[in-house]
Amino acid sequence: MEHSSEAHHRIARISAHLYPSKSQMMDESCKLSRADCRAKGGAPGFKVAILGAAGGIGQPLAMLMKMNPLVSVLHLYDVVNAPGVTADISHMDTGAVVRGFLGQAQLENALTGMDLVIIPAGVPRKPGMTRDDLFKINAGIVKTLCEGIAKCCPNAIVNLISNPVNSTVPIAAEVFKKAGTYDPKKLLGVTMLDVVRANTFVAEVLGLDPREVDVPVVGGHAGVTILPLLSQVKPPCHFTQQETEYLTDRIQNGGTEVVEAKAGAGSATLSMAYAAVKFADACLRGLRGDAAVIECAFVASQVTELPYFASKVRLGRSGAEEVFQLGPLNEFERDGLEKAKKELAGSIEKGASFIRK
Ligand SMILES: NC(=O)c1ccc[n+]([C@@H]2O[C@H](COP(=O)([O-])OP(=O)(O)OC[C@H]3O[C@@H](n4cnc5c(N)ncnc54)[C@H](O)[C@@H]3O)[C@@H](O)[C@H]2O)c1
Repeated sequence: MEHSSEAHHRIARISAHLYPSKSQMMDESCKLSRADCRAKGGAPGFKVAILGAAGGIGQPLAMLMKMNPLVSVLHLYDVVNAPGVTADISHMDTGAVVRGFLGQAQLENALTGMDLVIIPAGVPRKPGMTRDDLFKINAGIVKTLCEGIAKCCPNAIVNLISNPVNSTVPIAAEVFKKAGTYDPKKLLGVTMLDVVRANTFVAEVLGLDPREVDVPVVGGHAGVTILPLLSQVKPPCHFTQQETEYLTDRIQNGGTEVVEAKAGAGSATLSMAYAAVKFADACLRGLRGDAAVIECAFVASQVTELPYFASKVRLGRSGAEEVFQLGPLNEFERDGLEKAKKELAGSIEKGASFIRK
């Protein structure tokens, strides 16, 4: 008898973890900060939430984060299909404990106690659309999600993927300022996919393994605001003018290449999930206290006269602890920088005024 009641309790505990009802979820979220929430037998790790976890990016991102040994708790939130994705991912025999949250009413429970929040929620581009065309819908989504973050996990690092990143980062910053929780070091627009593409395309031209190539990509995350610094590629190399123009154009329009190839079925999801995990892992290694974790991101910046700009940043215990200068640019890059700044200024203002108005 005792055995079967113990088993009953064990089963009830597992299903409460996976599919918490509203009242159970309150209990569960209270427990989130406690050590017993860590993966059984696993090392202590970080608590990560993905908002938009059932989407094209969200699903592979959730899968890859479940495989990350630095993650002990993984919260999957979406307005649709979160229970299905959660059930699926939860069967993976890796350390992180997975919980699903469906709809606005469960947002606060999804966010409570999180160390890192990754946001791929929103609509993607279709052929013929620019990232700015997404503004109307995604601005409101990002606003709502960031209000939840300000309330429930104001100290979390935020990785913002939803487009247009050049505007959604200023939107998030204004929401946090309004709530009195803004810490510029903790808000990072994810431009990692531009770096991943740049490394790949440059490696193709040089005939190298892409893992050996490091291309800084600065500016922003849309068209001409994406500025690869080909004069600073590691290992040091030289490109002809034709190669420089070809590579710059392909890196700036890599997203459109995928949107057109998918012909209406969305934008980059798999390479984006890979890039998002590469970036999130760097943030977690920084949080853990690793030294010299350096990646490009779109952050509050004094590198140019603009309030936000993408450049290399050093990730540490409190987020982007150091924002690096651009270094020496050649004439082609200086021209590109002027074009990038002009477009960025408008996108940043559009985002900020969406909240300030
Ligand atoms: N930063 C980058 O480099 C980059 C690259 C590719 C795509 N993106 C952007 O990422 C976003 C998502 O792209 P996708 O292909 O995964 O789109 P998708 O439509 O496949 O998925 C988006 C998900 O967000 C969910 N969602 C919508 N409103 C929500 C809300 N209020 N709260 C929580 N979830 C919500 C949807 O239900 C859906 O599951 C788009 O804005 C896209 O432009 C960014």
